[in-house]
Amino acid sequence: MKGIVLAGGTGSRLLPITRGVSKQLLPVFDKPMVYYPLSLLMLAGVRDVLVITTPADAGAFARVLGDGAGWGLTVTYAVQPSPGGIAQALLVGEAFLDGDGCGLVLGDNLLYGQGLRTALRGAAATTSGAHIFGYPVSTPEHYGVLAFDGDRVVDVVEKPARPPSRLAVPGLYFFDGTAPARVRDQRPSARGELEITDLHRSYLRDGQLAVTHLGRGVAWLDMGTPENLLAAAGFVEAIQARQGLLISSPEEIAWRQGWIDDAALAAAAHAHAGTTYGALLGQLVEGAPDGGAGR
Ligand code: DAU
Repeated sequence: MKGIVLAGGTGSRLLPITRGVSKQLLPVFDKPMVYYPLSLLMLAGVRDVLVITTPADAGAFARVLGDGAGWGLTVTYAVQPSPGGIAQALLVGEAFLDGDGCGLVLGDNLLYGQGLRTALRGAAATTSGAHIFGYPVSTPEHYGVLAFDGDRVVDVVEKPARPPSRLAVPGLYFFDGTAPARVRDQRPSARGELEITDLHRSYLRDGQLAVTHLGRGVAWLDMGTPENLLAAAGFVEAIQARQGLLISSPEEIAWRQGWIDDAALAAAAHAHAGTTYGALLGQLVEGAPDGGAGR
């Protein structure tokens, strides 16, 4: 399973902040936004990652993420010339995927909580069909929304004026190798985009869409507006300060998965010396007993 982080778009809902810097590189408390979605792919077990950016921002992402080797990853880059829709990521990434399945994550999504790793691993085990998630929100009209007949998902609707349920679809999706061909069969929507919900519908029509419900034990935040960005930063600050554990640190995840060794983690702690981020990585190396809480 490969991974794609979609980190293009205009960031228009964050203007004027995004006039000079990509939204997905903005700080979310103590780390760049893109760390959070990248960590989700890592937790799912994905090590081969394509990061899709705008042409203008490609260099900045390469400075932040590099080639991924320090995190036990292979990170490569591609450019989306203009924002033609989320599903277009499957076309931009088609050569990278080379027929393989993938996890696709939006660069402004944060998920955190108990049992998430197990849910991600389960979804990443998808060898045929697609696997998405449903999450209850108070404003479903801002998202892709699931429609049900009883317990059965019968449709996925993008930003419906009258939402058929409260269950929104977070921006993390797992697809089999047929996804690029399915997107090629799609037509752009009325707003001129290749819609990710139309790709979900294609799988649903074939009886190949699996949906896992994420409950209230998981936090899902998107970070696309000033209010959401501030809320996400506050959330990360509150949990990290309370637990003394980092949310979505690629170094920590790589180390826990056995992709980097103690020496590499110690080097990362040293490279962040003088920051709380570095101090918390250092604590991991020193192995302060936590009874497995950090896992
Ligand atoms: O956050 C989850 C939601 O994300 C889903 O529930 C919706 O079904 C899905 O359409 C999407 O809704 P958004 O309103 O957040 O989509 P937006 O156009 O803002 O794009 C989300 C991210 O993807 C954003 O950070 C920019 C990036 N993007 C978007 C488009 C359309 C690209 O990199 N390229 C694009 O062409």
